[in-house]
Amino acid sequence: MDMTTRIQSALDQQLARAETASAPPLLLAAMRHAVFPGGARIRPQLCLAVAQACGEDAPNLTDAAAVAIELLHCASLVHDDMPCFDDADTRRGQPTVHKQYGEPLALLTGDALIVMAYQALARAGAHHPLRLAGLIDTVCTGTGAPDGIVAGQAWECESRVSLSQYQRAKTGALFVASTCAGAQAAGADPAEWRTLGECLGEAYQVADDIRDVVMQAGQLGKPAGQDLHHGRPSAATDLGLLGAISHFRKLMAEAVSSVPVCESRAAMRQIVLRESERLIPQSTCDRITQDRSLWAPARATVRQATV
Ligand code: IPE
Ligand code: IPE
Ligand code: MG
Ligand code: MG
Repeated sequence: MDMTTRIQSALDQQLARAETASAPPLLLAAMRHAVFPGGARIRPQLCLAVAQACGEDAPNLTDAAAVAIELLHCASLVHDDMPCFDDADTRRGQPTVHKQYGEPLALLTGDALIVMAYQALARAGAHHPLRLAGLIDTVCTGTGAPDGIVAGQAWECESRVSLSQYQRAKTGALFVASTCAGAQAAGADPAEWRTLGECLGEAYQVADDIRDVVMQAGQLGKPAGQDLHHGRPSAATDLGLLGAISHFRKLMAEAVSSVPVCESRAAMRQIVLRESERLIPQSTCDRITQDRSLWAPARATVRQATV
Protein backbone atom coordinates (compact mmCIF):
# COMPACT_ATOMS: atom_id res chain seq x y z
CA MET A 1 0.00 0.00 0.00
CA ASP A 2 1.45 3.43 -0.89
CA MET A 3 1.83 6.07 1.79
CA THR A 4 -1.09 8.26 0.70
CA THR A 5 -3.51 5.32 0.65
CA ARG A 6 -2.22 4.16 4.02
CA ILE A 7 -2.83 7.60 5.57
CA GLN A 8 -6.29 8.06 4.00
CA SER A 9 -7.36 4.62 5.08
CA ALA A 10 -6.09 5.02 8.67
CA LEU A 11 -7.91 8.36 8.97
CA ASP A 12 -11.07 6.88 7.50
CA GLN A 13 -11.02 3.97 9.96
CA GLN A 14 -10.46 6.32 12.88
CA LEU A 15 -13.43 8.50 11.98
CA ALA A 16 -15.59 5.46 11.28
CA ARG A 17 -15.17 4.36 14.91
CA ALA A 18 -17.09 7.44 16.04
CA GLU A 19 -19.78 7.06 13.41
CA THR A 20 -22.35 5.23 15.48
CA ALA A 21 -26.11 5.61 15.58
CA SER A 22 -25.84 7.28 18.99
CA ALA A 23 -23.80 10.22 17.69
CA PRO A 24 -25.25 13.57 16.55
CA PRO A 25 -25.27 13.30 12.72
CA LEU A 26 -24.31 16.91 12.03
CA LEU A 27 -21.26 16.65 14.28
CA LEU A 28 -20.16 13.49 12.44
CA ALA A 29 -20.67 15.17 9.07
CA ALA A 30 -18.70 18.22 10.18
CA MET A 31 -15.83 16.04 11.44
CA ARG A 32 -15.62 14.26 8.06
CA HIS A 33 -15.77 17.62 6.30
CA ALA A 34 -12.78 18.81 8.36
CA VAL A 35 -10.64 15.76 7.56
CA PHE A 36 -11.63 14.86 3.97
CA PRO A 37 -10.70 15.40 1.19
CA GLY A 38 -7.58 16.64 3.00
CA GLY A 39 -4.66 18.72 1.89
CA ALA A 40 -1.04 17.74 1.36
CA ARG A 41 -1.01 15.34 4.37
CA ILE A 42 2.63 16.33 4.74
CA ARG A 43 2.79 15.82 8.52
CA PRO A 44 1.56 12.19 8.54
CA GLN A 45 3.80 11.46 5.54
CA LEU A 46 6.78 12.73 7.48
CA CYS A 47 5.81 10.67 10.50
CA LEU A 48 5.53 7.46 8.43
CA ALA A 49 8.71 8.15 6.46
CA VAL A 50 10.75 8.67 9.63
CA ALA A 51 9.28 5.54 11.23
CA GLN A 52 10.25 3.54 8.15
CA ALA A 53 13.74 5.05 8.16
CA CYS A 54 14.04 3.92 11.79
CA GLY A 55 13.08 0.31 10.98
CA GLU A 56 9.35 0.48 11.71
CA ASP A 57 8.32 -2.57 13.80
CA ALA A 58 4.89 -1.48 15.13
CA PRO A 59 2.86 -0.28 12.13
CA ASN A 60 -0.35 0.14 14.13
CA LEU A 61 1.42 2.51 16.48
CA THR A 62 2.96 4.45 13.56
CA ASP A 63 -0.49 4.72 11.97
CA ALA A 64 -1.96 6.01 15.24
CA ALA A 65 0.81 8.62 15.60
CA ALA A 66 0.36 9.78 11.99
CA VAL A 67 -3.45 9.87 12.38
CA ALA A 68 -3.25 11.75 15.68
CA ILE A 69 -0.98 14.39 14.17
CA GLU A 70 -3.17 14.90 11.09
CA LEU A 71 -6.35 15.08 13.22
CA LEU A 72 -4.72 17.72 15.43
CA HIS A 73 -3.65 19.63 12.34
CA CYS A 74 -7.21 19.49 10.92
CA ALA A 75 -8.61 20.63 14.28
CA SER A 76 -6.19 23.55 14.31
CA LEU A 77 -7.39 24.58 10.84
CA VAL A 78 -11.07 24.41 11.84
CA HIS A 79 -10.42 26.68 14.83
CA ASP A 80 -8.01 28.93 12.89
CA ASP A 81 -10.69 29.61 10.25
CA MET A 82 -13.35 30.66 12.77
CA PRO A 83 -14.44 34.30 12.96
CA CYS A 84 -12.55 34.88 16.22
CA PHE A 85 -9.27 33.98 14.48
CA ASP A 86 -8.86 34.38 10.70
CA ASP A 87 -12.54 34.43 9.70
CA ALA A 88 -11.96 32.41 6.51
CA ASP A 89 -14.76 31.21 4.25
CA THR A 90 -12.85 28.50 2.36
CA ARG A 91 -10.36 25.78 3.18
CA ARG A 92 -8.99 23.09 0.87
CA GLY A 93 -11.27 24.36 -1.88
CA GLN A 94 -14.52 23.94 0.06
CA PRO A 95 -16.50 26.00 2.59
CA THR A 96 -14.90 26.11 6.03
CA VAL A 97 -16.58 24.08 8.75
CA HIS A 98 -18.22 27.08 10.44
CA LYS A 99 -19.52 28.32 7.06
CA GLN A 100 -21.09 24.96 6.31
CA TYR A 101 -22.24 23.88 9.78
CA GLY A 102 -22.20 27.05 11.93
CA GLU A 103 -19.87 28.22 14.69
CA PRO A 104 -21.06 25.99 17.56
CA LEU A 105 -20.47 22.84 15.51
CA ALA A 106 -17.12 24.14 14.22
CA LEU A 107 -15.89 24.68 17.77
CA LEU A 108 -17.11 21.22 18.77
CA THR A 109 -15.64 19.62 15.64
CA GLY A 110 -12.19 20.94 16.52
CA ASP A 111 -12.62 19.74 20.11
CA ALA A 112 -13.83 16.29 19.00
CA LEU A 113 -10.89 15.84 16.62
CA ILE A 114 -8.42 16.77 19.35
CA VAL A 115 -9.96 14.23 21.73
CA MET A 116 -10.05 11.61 18.96
CA ALA A 117 -6.33 12.13 18.29
CA TYR A 118 -5.40 11.18 21.85
CA GLN A 119 -7.84 8.28 21.86
CA ALA A 120 -6.17 6.89 18.70
CA LEU A 121 -2.80 7.05 20.45
CA ALA A 122 -4.13 5.54 23.68
CA ARG A 123 -5.70 2.55 21.92
CA ALA A 124 -2.69 1.66 19.76
CA GLY A 125 -0.24 2.53 22.52
CA ALA A 126 -1.76 0.07 25.01
CA HIS A 127 0.49 -2.60 23.46
CA HIS A 128 3.58 -0.34 23.68
CA PRO A 129 3.23 1.53 26.99
CA LEU A 130 6.85 2.70 27.12
CA ARG A 131 6.64 4.23 23.66
CA LEU A 132 3.20 5.69 24.39
CA ALA A 133 4.40 7.98 27.20
CA GLY A 134 7.01 9.57 24.95
CA LEU A 135 4.59 9.89 22.06
CA ILE A 136 1.98 11.68 24.14
CA ASP A 137 4.60 14.05 25.48
CA THR A 138 5.84 14.80 21.95
CA VAL A 139 2.36 15.45 20.58
CA CYS A 140 1.42 17.66 23.56
CA THR A 141 4.61 19.69 23.11
CA GLY A 142 3.76 20.26 19.45
CA THR A 143 0.20 21.36 20.10
CA GLY A 144 -0.05 23.06 23.50
CA ALA A 145 1.67 25.76 25.55
CA PRO A 146 4.36 27.07 25.95
CA ASP A 147 5.70 26.39 22.44
CA GLY A 148 3.06 24.50 20.42
CA ILE A 149 0.15 25.51 18.18
CA VAL A 150 -1.93 26.98 21.02
CA ALA A 151 0.96 29.25 21.98
CA GLY A 152 1.51 30.18 18.34
CA GLN A 153 -2.09 31.24 17.90
CA ALA A 154 -1.98 33.09 21.23
CA TRP A 155 0.98 35.19 20.03
CA GLU A 156 -1.54 36.89 17.73
CA CYS A 157 -3.12 38.43 20.86
CA GLU A 158 0.18 40.04 21.95
CA SER A 159 1.33 43.48 20.86
CA ARG A 160 4.95 42.35 20.35
CA VAL A 161 6.05 39.09 18.79
CA SER A 162 9.16 37.68 17.18
CA LEU A 163 8.37 36.33 13.70
CA SER A 164 10.50 33.26 14.18
CA GLN A 165 9.05 32.41 17.62
CA TYR A 166 5.52 32.84 16.25
CA GLN A 167 6.17 30.64 13.21
CA ARG A 168 8.00 27.96 15.16
CA ALA A 169 5.11 27.68 17.59
CA LYS A 170 2.13 27.89 15.25
CA THR A 171 3.58 25.63 12.54
CA GLY A 172 7.09 24.37 13.27
CA ALA A 173 6.18 22.61 16.51
CA LEU A 174 3.79 20.13 14.84
CA PHE A 175 6.43 19.32 12.22
CA VAL A 176 8.89 18.57 15.02
CA ALA A 177 6.23 16.37 16.60
CA SER A 178 5.75 14.61 13.23
CA THR A 179 9.39 13.63 12.78
CA CYS A 180 9.97 12.83 16.46
CA ALA A 181 6.77 10.78 16.78
CA GLY A 182 7.77 8.74 13.72
CA ALA A 183 11.03 7.80 15.42
CA GLN A 184 9.35 7.11 18.76
CA ALA A 185 6.67 4.90 17.20
CA ALA A 186 9.52 2.75 15.88
CA GLY A 187 11.24 2.67 19.28
CA ALA A 188 14.07 4.95 18.09
CA ASP A 189 15.66 8.05 19.61
CA PRO A 190 13.73 11.12 18.36
CA ALA A 191 16.59 13.57 19.05
CA GLU A 192 18.36 13.12 15.75
CA TRP A 193 15.15 13.78 13.77
CA ARG A 194 14.36 17.04 15.52
CA THR A 195 16.29 19.39 13.24
CA LEU A 196 14.52 18.05 10.15
CA GLY A 197 11.13 18.90 11.71
CA GLU A 198 12.32 22.31 12.88
CA CYS A 199 13.73 23.39 9.51
CA LEU A 200 10.91 21.95 7.45
CA GLY A 201 8.24 23.41 9.74
CA GLU A 202 9.66 26.92 9.69
CA ALA A 203 10.22 26.70 5.93
CA TYR A 204 6.63 25.58 5.52
CA GLN A 205 5.27 28.67 7.27
CA VAL A 206 7.63 30.98 5.36
CA ALA A 207 6.31 29.36 2.16
CA ASP A 208 2.71 29.83 3.36
CA ASP A 209 3.45 33.55 3.91
CA ILE A 210 4.90 33.86 0.39
CA ARG A 211 2.02 31.92 -1.18
CA ASP A 212 -0.46 34.16 0.70
CA VAL A 213 0.99 37.13 -1.23
CA VAL A 214 1.78 35.71 -4.66
CA MET A 215 -1.00 33.21 -5.28
CA GLN A 216 -4.74 33.52 -5.80
CA ALA A 217 -7.48 31.98 -3.65
CA GLY A 218 -8.32 29.51 -6.44
CA GLN A 219 -4.79 28.13 -6.40
CA LEU A 220 -4.58 28.03 -2.61
CA GLY A 221 -8.03 26.59 -1.92
CA LYS A 222 -8.28 29.21 0.86
CA PRO A 223 -8.44 33.03 0.91
CA ALA A 224 -5.31 34.90 -0.25
CA GLY A 225 -3.82 38.12 1.12
CA GLN A 226 -4.84 37.25 4.66
CA ASP A 227 -1.64 38.16 6.48
CA LEU A 228 -1.77 41.75 5.29
CA HIS A 229 -5.54 41.88 5.83
CA HIS A 230 -5.26 40.75 9.47
CA GLY A 231 -1.92 42.46 10.15
CA ARG A 232 -0.26 39.12 10.98
CA PRO A 233 3.50 38.82 11.31
CA SER A 234 4.69 37.34 8.02
CA ALA A 235 8.02 36.50 6.42
CA ALA A 236 6.86 38.23 3.23
CA THR A 237 6.13 41.50 5.01
CA ASP A 238 9.16 41.40 7.32
CA LEU A 239 11.77 40.27 4.82
CA GLY A 240 10.22 41.24 1.49
CA LEU A 241 9.41 38.55 -1.04
CA LEU A 242 12.98 38.21 -2.20
CA GLY A 243 14.25 37.94 1.38
CA ALA A 244 11.50 35.45 2.21
CA ILE A 245 12.38 33.27 -0.79
CA SER A 246 16.01 33.24 0.20
CA HIS A 247 15.08 32.39 3.83
CA PHE A 248 12.82 29.59 2.56
CA ARG A 249 15.59 28.11 0.42
CA LYS A 250 18.11 28.29 3.26
CA LEU A 251 15.72 26.48 5.62
CA MET A 252 14.96 23.82 2.98
CA ALA A 253 18.67 23.27 2.35
CA GLU A 254 19.19 22.86 6.11
CA ALA A 255 16.31 20.38 6.18
CA VAL A 256 17.86 18.31 3.40
CA SER A 257 21.27 18.20 5.04
CA SER A 258 19.82 17.41 8.47
CA VAL A 259 18.44 14.01 7.42
CA PRO A 260 20.41 11.56 9.58
CA VAL A 261 22.47 8.79 8.05
CA CYS A 262 20.07 5.89 7.44
CA GLU A 263 19.20 3.45 4.67
CA SER A 264 16.43 5.66 3.30
CA ARG A 265 18.39 8.91 3.48
CA ALA A 266 18.14 9.52 -0.28
CA ALA A 267 14.38 8.89 -0.27
CA MET A 268 13.88 11.22 2.71
CA ARG A 269 15.86 13.95 0.98
CA GLN A 270 13.71 13.48 -2.11
CA ILE A 271 10.54 14.02 -0.05
CA VAL A 272 11.94 17.34 1.20
CA LEU A 273 13.01 18.47 -2.28
CA ARG A 274 9.65 17.51 -3.77
CA GLU A 275 7.84 19.52 -1.09
CA SER A 276 10.08 22.49 -1.70
CA GLU A 277 9.20 22.54 -5.40
CA ARG A 278 5.49 21.97 -4.69
CA LEU A 279 5.33 24.86 -2.22
CA ILE A 280 7.32 27.45 -4.16
CA PRO A 281 8.03 26.25 -7.71
CA GLN A 282 11.26 27.38 -9.31
CA SER A 283 9.22 29.35 -11.88
CA THR A 284 7.68 31.40 -9.04
CA CYS A 285 11.12 32.11 -7.56
CA ASP A 286 12.33 33.25 -10.98
CA ARG A 287 9.43 35.62 -11.51
CA ILE A 288 9.80 37.16 -8.05
CA THR A 289 13.52 37.60 -8.65
CA GLN A 290 12.81 39.37 -11.94
CA ASP A 291 10.02 41.69 -10.66
CA ARG A 292 11.76 44.42 -8.66
CA SER A 293 8.43 45.88 -7.49
CA LEU A 294 7.89 42.80 -5.31
CA TRP A 295 11.18 42.99 -3.42
CA ALA A 296 10.73 45.60 -0.71
CA PRO A 297 10.24 44.39 2.88
CA ALA A 298 8.10 47.28 4.20
CA ARG A 299 4.58 46.13 5.04
CA ALA A 300 2.95 48.84 2.92
CA THR A 301 4.90 47.83 -0.17
CA VAL A 302 3.87 44.19 -0.20
CA ARG A 303 1.03 43.83 -2.58
CA GLN A 304 -1.17 41.14 -3.98
CA ALA A 305 0.40 39.89 -7.19
CA THR A 306 -0.01 36.93 -9.44
CA VAL A 307 3.23 35.20 -10.30
C1 IPE B 1 -1.83 24.99 6.50
O1 IPE B 1 -1.11 23.81 6.52
C2 IPE B 1 -1.52 25.78 7.70
C3 IPE B 1 -0.10 26.04 7.88
C4 IPE B 1 0.51 25.69 8.90
C5 IPE B 1 0.67 26.75 6.86
P1 IPE B 1 -1.01 22.91 5.22
O2 IPE B 1 -0.55 23.77 4.08
O3 IPE B 1 -0.21 21.71 5.53
O4 IPE B 1 -2.53 22.53 4.99
P2 IPE B 1 -3.16 21.27 4.27
O5 IPE B 1 -3.25 20.20 5.29
O6 IPE B 1 -2.26 20.89 3.12
O7 IPE B 1 -4.51 21.75 3.83
C1 IPE C 1 -1.89 28.27 10.40
O1 IPE C 1 -1.66 29.58 10.37
C2 IPE C 1 -1.35 27.65 11.64
C3 IPE C 1 -2.37 27.03 12.47
C4 IPE C 1 -2.12 26.83 13.68
C5 IPE C 1 -3.68 26.68 11.95
P1 IPE C 1 -2.28 30.44 9.18
O2 IPE C 1 -3.50 31.14 9.64
O3 IPE C 1 -1.19 31.30 8.65
O4 IPE C 1 -2.62 29.30 8.11
P2 IPE C 1 -3.63 29.36 6.91
O5 IPE C 1 -3.02 30.32 5.93
O6 IPE C 1 -4.94 29.81 7.44
O7 IPE C 1 -3.66 27.96 6.37
MG1 MG D 1 -4.06 31.93 11.45
MG1 MG E 1 -5.47 31.10 8.81
